[in-house]
Amino acid sequence: MNLLIMGLPGAGKGTQAAKIVENFQVAHISTGDMFRAAMANQTEMGQLAKSYIDKGELVPDQVTNGIVKERLAQADIREAGFLLDGYPRTIEQAHALDETLKELGLSLDGVINIQVDPACLLERLSGRIIHKETGETFHKVFNPPAGDYNEADYYQREDDKPETVKRRLDVNIAQGQPIIEHYRAQGLVHDIEGNQDIKDVFAAIQTVLTNLK
Ligand code: AP5
Ligand code: MG
Repeated sequence: MNLLIMGLPGAGKGTQAAKIVENFQVAHISTGDMFRAAMANQTEMGQLAKSYIDKGELVPDQVTNGIVKERLAQADIREAGFLLDGYPRTIEQAHALDETLKELGLSLDGVINIQVDPACLLERLSGRIIHKETGETFHKVFNPPAGDYNEADYYQREDDKPETVKRRLDVNIAQGQPIIEHYRAQGLVHDIEGNQDIKDVFAAIQTVLTNLK
């Protein structure tokens, strides 16, 4: 299956992507994760990405389209299928993805659109903690790690500061609608209620994906 997962910052894309990958064995391609890895390795691309991400702005389309194209061209994708998380995020990226898929002889099977009330997102992002060793995402209140956990084993994302979150939300709300319309016109969009427990969100996604298979 070749899938997109869409939703505002904090909607739960990464949380649900981890469950989808575990249950449906598709390759997870998160542009945010790719940029954060490049930032941690201090590559030239990572330094460029950081200058945008720290301000809550989008990394330029040319850079983002390039890394996605390179990843989609790798051999495992044809075999396993993919789940793109956080891409496309501008209508220009959506058009670039159409071109890339055409060139590679691939097509999309579905778009998972997680819908959430924007008012709850600041709380979700300010409470997000990520396990340093495994990269697994938790929430201090909504999804705490099991048992007595050591806070020092977890970190918070630099761009989860309230002032940066506000800009991320504004940018994503402005850019997102035309992208969803682009895929809705092709009958690919599956709206998922994101204002419910993580396990209930996944149950809804699982129903959609089981029917797609
Ligand atoms: P990216 O890493 O993609 O960030 P984002 O889109 O802002 O989304 P998040 O990862 O913050 O949220 P999520 O939806 O994955 O939520 P999560 O599951 O973690 O991108 C970061 C930056 O990189 C961008 O701002 C941009 O600068 C750049 N970038 C990336 N892609 C780009 C592109 N295509 N073009 C240009 N620039 C790009 O959940 C959030 C929290 O809520 C967690 O703590 C979780 O435990 C909790 N939670 C999840 N689900 C629930 C639930 N149902 N109920 C309660 N809590 C929940
Ligand atoms: Mg994410």
